[in-house]
Amino acid sequence: MQELVIASNNEGKIREIRSMIAGITLLSLKDIGFNKDIPEPFHTFEENAHAKALAIYDFCGKNVFADDSGICIEALNNEPGVDSAHYSGTRDDERNLQKVLDELRGKTDRSAYYKAVICLIWQGETYYFDGICQGSITAQKKGTGGFGYDPIFIPNGYDKTFGELPLDIKNKLSHRGKAVKKMIDFLTDKMN
Ligand code: IMP
Repeated sequence: MQELVIASNNEGKIREIRSMIAGITLLSLKDIGFNKDIPEPFHTFEENAHAKALAIYDFCGKNVFADDSGICIEALNNEPGVDSAHYSGTRDDERNLQKVLDELRGKTDRSAYYKAVICLIWQGETYYFDGICQGSITAQKKGTGGFGYDPIFIPNGYDKTFGELPLDIKNKLSHRGKAVKKMIDFLTDKMN
């Protein structure tokens, strides 16, 4: 079976991606013996996804992909965006989410979207896949599922947060689910 490395240490992302990909051997950073943080120094999802995939490709030479993602909130000029993982100045999901709730207190426009960009390096060539999920931010946390901002994000067309909805529904609607599906369709084509 073909091997593919997920260039991420984020357990929430890895859990979701693993539940979507079959027919290919997914390797974690631990599996390939990479145990450092991968720098994400850029201001776009594309550049950060590329930097992460390339760092791992340079390390092991295997097929690899990286997801760079975040939440963009309209009333906050699309912040935290690429800085979602450390919006509060820490990598603590709870503090990041509370900062969003604080910043939005009293604001009527609660619209937001998640965005994910995947950079895939497959047989030495680089490809990109993206996905967006539109929704809104609640006034309070609801649910304990998912990770990151999920307990305060309601996808359009639903009345529950991603913290309350089951993973299979999140995967169908989410930014990452859409980007991963595009990558799977591409790989299915390549491998057949
Ligand atoms: P990065 O891609 O490593 O820069 O981190 C993405 C960050 O965006 C995560 O740490 C979360 O804070 C947030 N994020 C991205 N996707 C999701 C999601 O599906 N649910 C909740 N938070 C997310």
